[in-house]
Amino acid sequence: MIEPATITTRRLVLRPYTLDDCEVLTRVINRREIYETTLNIPHPYSLEDARSYISRSDEARKEDRDFPCAITLKETGDLIGGCGLLVNRKMDRAEMGYWLAVEHWGKGYTTEAAIALIRHGFDVLELNCIEAHHFIINPASGRVMTKAGMKYEGRLRQRAKKDGQYHDVDMYSIIRSEYEAARK
Ligand SMILES: CC(C)(COP(=O)(O)OP(=O)(O)OC[C@H]1O[C@@H](n2cnc3c(N)ncnc32)[C@H](O)[C@@H]1OP(=O)(O)O)[C@@H](O)C(=O)NCCC(=O)NCCS
Repeated sequence: MIEPATITTRRLVLRPYTLDDCEVLTRVINRREIYETTLNIPHPYSLEDARSYISRSDEARKEDRDFPCAITLKETGDLIGGCGLLVNRKMDRAEMGYWLAVEHWGKGYTTEAAIALIRHGFDVLELNCIEAHHFIINPASGRVMTKAGMKYEGRLRQRAKKDGQYHDVDMYSIIRSEYEAARK
């Protein structure tokens, strides 16, 4: 079982969600801009969506299937986004995902969170590979992956379907040997 873990970076604290986050999460995530480039975030986003997500993510953490974190500001404690690793234990692999409050885009916060999440994935969860995908209409997410040390794997054609439209997806990954070599 993955113990509840809190990761602290220079400006952020990545921590487990609690049901007390429901209202803030609903307010912050409820933006069309966030919905448009993600696959699993409803829009509009209701309080019930938040409750159900937080309950599910808590169970998934306990069962070692997922490592979801609220992204909060170290200085104020404000919840400004979310990130996580969807763990495939059989393969020692995880898929990383993230979103950030629109008013905080462009400040490097997601990159800071992604770097910390990758470190946690290798050092604590003992993964061998961490991968991530983004719609090609969302190059900012590809920049986050690159800046976090991931390598471009290639383009998966019409891999995702959203609102009846197929989207090409770019895939990135980092494997343990690369992560360890970069730390030397
Ligand atoms: C993608 C997202 C998480 C990025 O968060 P962020 O905190 O702004 O990311 P960072 O500030 O760490 O880095 C963003 C990088 O993308 C770059 N960028 C922004 N818009 C860009 C664009 N249209 N084209 C290319 N690069 C772009 C920024 O300049 C920055 O790179 P730089 O540091 O080299 O200048 C945020 O935009 C978001 O929440 N989007 C909606 C949800 C989403 O798409 N999640 C990811 C699903 S795969």
